[in-house]
Amino acid sequence: MAALAINGGEPVVKHGLGKGWPIYDETEENALLEVLRSGAWNRREKVDEVGEKFAAYHDAKYGIPLANGTVALQCALKAAGITAGDEVIVPALTFVATGTSAVCVNAVPVIVDIDPLTYNISPDAIVDAITPRTKAIIPVHNGGYPADMDAIMEVAEKHDLKVIEDCAHAHGSQWRGKGVGSIGHLGTFSFQIGKTLTCGEGGMVITYDEELANTARHIANLNMRMTNLQAALLLCQLERLPDQIETRERNMAYLVKGMESIDGLHPIPRDERVTRWCFYYWDFRFVSEEFDGISRGRFLEALSAEGVPCGVGAHGIPIYHEGPFASPEMFDQLGLPRKYLGDNAIDYTDVHCPQADYVYNNEVCSFGHAMFLGDTDDMQLILDAFQKIRNNTDAL
Ligand SMILES: Cc1ncc(COP(=O)(O)O)c(C=O)c1O
Repeated sequence: MAALAINGGEPVVKHGLGKGWPIYDETEENALLEVLRSGAWNRREKVDEVGEKFAAYHDAKYGIPLANGTVALQCALKAAGITAGDEVIVPALTFVATGTSAVCVNAVPVIVDIDPLTYNISPDAIVDAITPRTKAIIPVHNGGYPADMDAIMEVAEKHDLKVIEDCAHAHGSQWRGKGVGSIGHLGTFSFQIGKTLTCGEGGMVITYDEELANTARHIANLNMRMTNLQAALLLCQLERLPDQIETRERNMAYLVKGMESIDGLHPIPRDERVTRWCFYYWDFRFVSEEFDGISRGRFLEALSAEGVPCGVGAHGIPIYHEGPFASPEMFDQLGLPRKYLGDNAIDYTDVHCPQADYVYNNEVCSFGHAMFLGDTDDMQLILDAFQKIRNNTDAL
């Protein structure tokens, strides 16, 4: 049996997996030059065009392109009428901006636990967190895997709550054949450089509701606008998206099939209502007890030595452990100072989401999307590395 690379053996992978990111060529160069030479850097033509095209791609009627995904969340919250002291339910496992955007509009984020199978917000935890002050839910399609929108919309309708889908990881994903972001009242996207659709920095709000769209447009116009240069780049990248999605899905299917015969490594079980699964990070579950008791940390070290880089969730630590949630001063600077919130203020050091903590500390393993843009040989190499480590746990 070959020696593990972590112990000085030959690594399985000797080249970069997938493709470098971002991907561009003279199409992007020419599109940028066209706007540059027109001098119309601040005009709206390309911005409006990309808003329309991207909204249509996600089955929404209106798209409001913005400066980034963080202001997109703030814009959506404001358009949804969220104001000072309102409670907004958010998942523990996300990028901190999902929660801080609520703070920025003076609302109170209520951080709830995840479903341990999908790593998305738990519909039961949402129900448990509802109070008379609850006004909105922000489900995040974590990594790009759609949250259970049937259950979430049912709760929202029952309690008259607005649903803002945070789709920063989920460009192209579909739930029951419908683009994410068009199922809730509003959907938000990020086009930051790492995302599967990017223009360096950028964001968008989409909706099917004309009134919400008009309000969002007015809010956006104050200080959240996307530029024509960003939009020109985004239009080119949008053309590339369908092929990239197909390649990723093909490679993911190959990897998932191959993982069936490797004990201890479990892809997220795909719900049949997830009709398209596009991902920013592709998560799988490491179960130590099924892997001869090796810790996830040791597994990831061995995997990295074999030439397969692997992270821990799209953004790592559950958000109540970081930023303004771990620092009352920062919270106060960002939004409504907690002293004005009275009984409504939450001490986030008291928040405990056991599933999110367990998943983050022990279980989740994540591959970046660009690793899936090569051919299936790359997937076979990943499987070979998994198998090699699985066969040599006694050497770890
Ligand atoms: C889940 C989630 N929401 C919101 C954002 C914010 O997007 P941006 O970085 O474009 O402001 C991100 C960015 O990574 C994210 O991952």
